[in-house]
Amino acid sequence: MSEAPLPRGGVPLLDAREITVRFGGLTAVDAVDAVFTAGELVGIIGPNGAGKTTFFNAISGVTQPTSGRLLASGRNLSGQAPHRFAAQGIARTFQTPRVFGDMPVRDNIAFGLKFAGRRPRQYWLWGDEASVPWALRTADSILDLIGLGAQAELPAAAITPSQQRLLEIGMALATRPRLLLLDEVAAGLTESEVEDMAQLIRRLRDELDLTVVWIEHAVTTLLRHVERVIVLHQGRKIADGPPAEVVRNPEVIEAYLGDEMMEETPP
Ligand SMILES: Nc1ncnc2c1ncn2[C@@H]1O[C@H](COP(=O)(O)OP(=O)(O)O)[C@@H](O)[C@H]1O
Ligand SMILES: [Mg+2]
Repeated sequence: MSEAPLPRGGVPLLDAREITVRFGGLTAVDAVDAVFTAGELVGIIGPNGAGKTTFFNAISGVTQPTSGRLLASGRNLSGQAPHRFAAQGIARTFQTPRVFGDMPVRDNIAFGLKFAGRRPRQYWLWGDEASVPWALRTADSILDLIGLGAQAELPAAAITPSQQRLLEIGMALATRPRLLLLDEVAAGLTESEVEDMAQLIRRLRDELDLTVVWIEHAVTTLLRHVERVIVLHQGRKIADGPPAEVVRNPEVIEAYLGDEMMEETPP
């Protein structure tokens, strides 16, 4: 456990203000405001093409927003390179897992740890190794956490796609983030695997004191596990609140949930 967590409701871990991303004539993200505070588990949902991944790209430094402001723990990150975002404790996974296929699973994690180790000690929350949660200290402890201990020696290309998704989470955790952004980590998983993934995500938040923002297409599962959900539609944020409220929001039902809930009914 960290010794000095940010107080809930204190300075936001990430404060995104009026983030806009345009690709030519297309506005993929349209003036989205979002605030994430320490210890939150927040979902982001919305139809395909709503701008969810582009929003993640913008708040993790992968894509430069066309306009808007990003503050991490009060520091301005607008226009900074991705490694500056990492230095502020922001880590993310990609919709298509990016693992090193030829390398053993354990080495994929070790790579992330090396990266974390090279970071200057300006990383105040995990200021020194002693304050790093035991579960994030070594490649093996991270493998245990994500349930891939038995696969440690296998090349990453040889594990199943669902295990590769877990590995990608492990690689993000190896950078010892404070804010973990997960982009459809449950895509393509079976119903019981999706539930296991949701349980893992909750454990990460509960046991490692992480803030987690989780984009997922499996809306019904997501809504059962998050405390707050943001809905994007055509690049705009149309709702932001507790799941019980958001699912009753007429604009959300109209834009998205009505259809999605039906689609997700098991065959
Ligand atoms: N690099 C890009 N260049 C041009 N258009 C893009 C690019 N990335 C995403 N888009 C477009 O932006 C919109 C939002 O995409 P995306 O953020 O991937 O949506 P989501 O993750 O919600 O499915 C889509 O219309 C998509 O085609
Ligand atoms: Mg996406």
